[in-house]
Amino acid sequence: MSEPVSDPGGASATGSGSAADPGPTAAPITFVGGKGGVGKTTLAAAHALALADAGQRVLVVSTDPAHSLGDALEAPLKDEPVRVAPNLWAAEPDADAAVRRRIAQVVEDAEKAVPPEVMPAVRRHLEQAGASPGMAESALADLLVDRMEQVGRRWDALVVDSAPTGHLLRLLNLPTLLTPWVVGLTRQRERARRAEALADVVGDSEEEADPLVERLHARRHRLEGAADRLRRDAVVRLVTLPRRMVLAETARAVERLSEAEFRLDPVVVNQIPAGDAAGPDTAEALAATRERFARQGTVEVPLQDAEPTGLESLRRLAAHLAAR
Ligand SMILES: Nc1ncnc2c1ncn2[C@@H]1O[C@H](COP(=O)(O)OP(=O)(O)OP(=O)(O)O)[C@@H](O)[C@H]1O
Ligand SMILES: [Mg+2]
Repeated sequence: MSEPVSDPGGASATGSGSAADPGPTAAPITFVGGKGGVGKTTLAAAHALALADAGQRVLVVSTDPAHSLGDALEAPLKDEPVRVAPNLWAAEPDADAAVRRRIAQVVEDAEKAVPPEVMPAVRRHLEQAGASPGMAESALADLLVDRMEQVGRRWDALVVDSAPTGHLLRLLNLPTLLTPWVVGLTRQRERARRAEALADVVGDSEEEADPLVERLHARRHRLEGAADRLRRDAVVRLVTLPRRMVLAETARAVERLSEAEFRLDPVVVNQIPAGDAAGPDTAEALAATRERFARQGTVEVPLQDAEPTGLESLRRLAAHLAAR
């Protein structure tokens, strides 16, 4: 059913104002976050579908290495976006492949920068680094920056299904965190080049452009652009459950995201049992949730009888997201 994406062309005006109401988000980039199992993937898919039904060209991507976006959409997904509904594309980026690409690039840079006899040690070091979780996260953040740069050109909107909260916070902060590191690397490299030039007084003194320094500068600009863009064009939609413990974690996430100056959408309270099934604990937790997030607002989504997978079920959920 799904087919590989062909570039859908230039951006259209956002939203045609047709049938579906995409809900409270007007931002072009939405991150859906929250504790494990609250319904992030399901609601990211539902939100993306609502935007697509309203006429926007939407890409929904999962950043959880344990992908389940394809299960929610009932479509086989892969690294590159595939079309899963009119106006809607979805992807499950392959973090391992991204790490391999990143390492290949570092090897290429290193080959220009260090003597050949050092290369085996460099390769060994990179192999070890490649196996570390930080490398996968940073490669995934790079992929995400690529996708963000396509918003406004290839896509009208990007919806990101995140892994649980801690991961989302790190992911959102990576561009900011990596910038000083890249600046440090650039300085080291420039210092080394100056030392080489001094030692080389008898040689050809003409200054050559250093591809490694250029690459580092480009990377720094990209990261700074992404950090700005995240604060300007992105909102975080936190999903929670009507339970005290989950509420406490959501409250901490709201604080940390606000401190880092990210914009927050109303908090989605998912899987609310209906009527008698709810019980006094749920009612109490729901009241506490509404009070705690009065500033952001809340959107309430009922517990469905069956697992909400596939386009029709997701559309039913999206209707609740829109009605706030
Ligand atoms: N409103 C709902 N009613 C009934 N079932 C739901 C609802 N929302 C989500 N679910 C179900 O709850 C389960 C967890 O949902 P989902 O995978 O979207 O959560 P998640 O937050 O992405 O989980 P993870 O942290 O593991 O990525 C799934 O089986 C999903 O179909
Ligand atoms: Mg998920």
